[in-house]
Amino acid sequence: MANRVQGHVQSRTVYYLMNIHVTPRSIYLSRHGESQLNLRGRIGGDSELSPRGEQVGTHLGTGTHLGDGTWGEQMGTGTHLGDGVCEEMTYEEIQERYPKELALRDQDKYRYRYPKGESYEDLVQRLEPVIMELERQENVLVICHQAVMRCLLAYFLDKSADELPYLKCPLHTVLKLTPVAYEPPSKARPMTRPGWATNRHRPRSERD
Ligand code: F6P
Repeated sequence: MANRVQGHVQSRTVYYLMNIHVTPRSIYLSRHGESQLNLRGRIGGDSELSPRGEQVGTHLGTGTHLGDGTWGEQMGTGTHLGDGVCEEMTYEEIQERYPKELALRDQDKYRYRYPKGESYEDLVQRLEPVIMELERQENVLVICHQAVMRCLLAYFLDKSADELPYLKCPLHTVLKLTPVAYEPPSKARPMTRPGWATNRHRPRSERD
């Protein structure tokens, strides 16, 4: 029962409490199947899937790729990080055309915005309704883009803003999260069919 709730923070807190539940469940997070742009090392965009991406997508849809994964609902988040003028470019092309931008991004990847794009910080704000929906759901599979998966993972694993943009989210790997009420966040368990995971990302050490 909510009584005498006044002001922004109080009403946000009540909204949050009314959406969470303690029923045991698992949340499965996965990136979409490999796209043609992924294959060419290009960020963002909205291209067709590669043949391997199609294959993985079909398996994800039926749940057969995982063995012990069961989900009642599937959710797609659609959105990805707004890459602005760098959309569909490779990191090498960005380095060549906008060398200052990549250097700035390396200094503070969480807050950095591509010109005419957005930052991880912006994306976190935009994902609040998705997070709230996940809090309400029971067993659910979420299919999303890399940056979105990092934000969701950071929320459920309680990772800092500094760690968030570097969380490893390979393609073709489902991460299983099993939140338990009143316990610290559980680890994400990767579920991958051998040989299927693929990851083209620039780890933090290369940027320092
Ligand atoms: O390619 C998918 C994507 O989500 C892009 O939209 C985004 O720029 C990229 O991944 C994020 O990866 P990173 O932050 O490591 O460059």
